[in-house]
Amino acid sequence: MAEESAIKAEDPGIRTVGVVGSGQMGVGIAEVVARAGHDVVVRAREQAAADGVIAALDRSLAKQVAKGKIDEDARKQALGRVSATTSLRELAPCDLVIETVIEDREVKKQLFGELDRWVKPNGILATNTSTLSVVEFAVETGRPERVCGIHFFNPAPAMPLVEIVRPLTASDETIAAATEFAVACGKEPVEVADRAGFIVNALLFPYLNNAVRMLESGTATMEAIDAAMRGGCGFPMGPFALIDLVGLDTSVAILDALHDEFGDPSYVPMPLLRRMVTAGRCGRKSGRGFYEY
Ligand SMILES: NC(=O)c1ccc[n+]([C@@H]2O[C@H](COP(=O)([O-])OP(=O)(O)OC[C@H]3O[C@@H](n4cnc5c(N)ncnc54)[C@H](O)[C@@H]3O)[C@@H](O)[C@H]2O)c1
Repeated sequence: MAEESAIKAEDPGIRTVGVVGSGQMGVGIAEVVARAGHDVVVRAREQAAADGVIAALDRSLAKQVAKGKIDEDARKQALGRVSATTSLRELAPCDLVIETVIEDREVKKQLFGELDRWVKPNGILATNTSTLSVVEFAVETGRPERVCGIHFFNPAPAMPLVEIVRPLTASDETIAAATEFAVACGKEPVEVADRAGFIVNALLFPYLNNAVRMLESGTATMEAIDAAMRGGCGFPMGPFALIDLVGLDTSVAILDALHDEFGDPSYVPMPLLRRMVTAGRCGRKSGRGFYEY
């Protein structure tokens, strides 16, 4: 499509992109990157999850065709650019690898050490973390100047914003390449320092947590709170629908990381959130959160 070749023309030289993680963000980022004309290698931990990525991508692209956002040819081309693997070694030729596994500091630190071992030395290693400190991942590698945050929003194909997170160790070239890559993907990048929550989540999560506090205090039902924030503030969805979309497990991890860094009590996750995660009610991705799906 003409629109897609125009996007491709701004490509900063990043051709092959690795995506580590096969969850909702991994699939969404793979779609965005493939639609922008890059080859994508998605790494999942198990074969079933790797196959699931391709199936999920196929479904999502078919929906875009049905909505008239892309044509059949673009769908086939995007799907053909994506492969899925269970091996980190297959990320070796990637110019950029975006890590998007569970929001867990230790898991991500270990992964960055492994990526440093397998990915070619001049490849950029990026994290899609929502809140964690990017410099902690950078210092796990022998190339801290080539590590940064490239934070997509959910659902990645629909949300225009990408936060480009600059840890103290990143070179200007890395930040410039990440920014140009985001533009080449049709996104609107903003640069932000390496502080927990960056811009959006640092401002958003006290609000989401307070919505749960309001529910627990019996002020209103969750349906009423969601309707009030849609109708009264013009938000596209209310706080409970949004927590379900983000994932309750991810939301608790984000609040914990914000509280660890700033010590502000408004960031302490409400007990109901933790109980729901323990009960397996993690939101849309698990079929049930505040709402049922
Ligand atoms: N959900 C959102 O709205 C959103 C938005 C932006 C960024 N993020 C960030 O993206 C990342 C992934 O979030 P998601 O919503 O895709 O989560 P998800 O639960 O859908 O997927 C998590 C992925 O991590 C993998 N994983 C779990 N435990 C692991 C381990 N021990 N080692 C390696 N991999 C493991 C899972 O197999 C899965 O592929 C997180 O860092 C999250 O903070 C999430």
